[in-house]
Amino acid sequence: MKILAVESSCDETAVAIVEDGRRVLSDAVASQIEMHTIYGGVVPEIASRKHLEAVCLMADQALEKAGLTRRDIDAVACTYAPGLIGAVLVGVNFAKSVAYGLGLPLIPVHHIRGHIAANYITHPDLKPPFLCLCVSGGNTMIVDVEDYTKMKLLGATRDDAAGECFDKVARVLGIGYPGGGPMDRLASGGDAKKYPLPRSKVDGAPLDMSFSGLKTAALNTIHNAQQKGEELDLPSFAASFGQAVSDELVPRVEEAAKMTGRTTIAAAGGVSANSRIRGDLETMCRREGYQLYLPALHLCSDNGAMIGAQAYYEFLAGARGDTSLNGYAGMPIDK
Ligand code: KG4
Repeated sequence: MKILAVESSCDETAVAIVEDGRRVLSDAVASQIEMHTIYGGVVPEIASRKHLEAVCLMADQALEKAGLTRRDIDAVACTYAPGLIGAVLVGVNFAKSVAYGLGLPLIPVHHIRGHIAANYITHPDLKPPFLCLCVSGGNTMIVDVEDYTKMKLLGATRDDAAGECFDKVARVLGIGYPGGGPMDRLASGGDAKKYPLPRSKVDGAPLDMSFSGLKTAALNTIHNAQQKGEELDLPSFAASFGQAVSDELVPRVEEAAKMTGRTTIAAAGGVSANSRIRGDLETMCRREGYQLYLPALHLCSDNGAMIGAQAYYEFLAGARGDTSLNGYAGMPIDK
C-alpha cells in the first residue's frame, strides 16, 4: 500500500511516499530554517505562508522522485496534531483536498507517533511493544508503545521541551538556530564536568522532567561570565549542558523500563540525534541488557517518511479522516 504523507507541523514542509509502512519510495523536504534564522526562532505566521508556497511543489517532487503518478497512490496521510496550528492546517487542508480529489482514504497522524515510527523505517525488525524516549523541539516524553497505535504516556516535561532548551541557550550564545546541532558539535572535546548545572526532580512523579531550571541556570552562567568579563570555555559549557539534558532523560528511561518490565528501548525526535544522549542510552542499555533502537540521523528531525510509516499502521487500525478533519495545536499521544 503506497501512502502519500504530508508533514507541516513546524518549519519543514515534507511530502513522502511510503510503502507498507517501512519502505520509503521518496521524501521531499523544503526547509524554512534559513528564513526563521533571521528571527532566532520559528515565526508561526511565516511558517504557515512558507508551507503554502511549498506543499504542492513537494508533493510533485515526491511523486517524481518515486517515479509514480497520482494514480499509483492508495491513500493520503497528514500530521493533524500537535504543532503550530496555522502550519498544521496547511498540511491538513492540502491532504484533504488531494484525498477528496483522487477519491482516496485520508489518514490523520499524530506527529509524535510519526517520530516514533521513524524507527520502523530504520529498523525493519522493530515491532512493539517497546519504550520510546520522544525528544523534540516542542515535546519531551517517555511513551510505552504497547502496539503500533496503542500508546501510554509514562512521563513528560512539566515545562520546556529538551529541544527548546537547547535552542534558547544556543541563541544566547549566538551559535545558530536551531541550536541543538551546533551545541552538540561544540560539545565534542569539552569537559562535561566543568560547569555545574542542576538536575530536576518532580515530587511524586519520578518519570516527569523539568528543563526550565536547567535553562535558567545555563543562561545565568553565560550572563555571569559576560558581566565579569570572563571568557566561557564554550566546548566545556556545551558539554556540561548536553550532559545535564541527558541526565534528565536517560535515567528516567531506565526507571521506566524497570517499572514496566520492557526490555526494548527506542528514541525519537530531533533531539534524539544528540551524540551524548545516544551514547548514554547505549551505555545504559548495554549495562542493563536492553535492546536499543535509534532512528537514522536523517530521520530524527521532522520528515514526511515517518508520517507515512505511522499512517500505514493507523490505516490498518481503522483510522480515517474526511473533509471535516481539523488540525490541533495539542493532542495527547494516547488519545
Ligand atoms: O523533531 P524536530 O525536528 O521538530 C519538532 O518536532 O520539534 O526537533 C527539532 C529540535 C530542535 O530543538 C533542535 O535544536 C533539536 O531538535 N536538535 C538537536 C540536535 N539536532 C536537532 N538537539 C540536540 N542535539 C542535536 N544533535
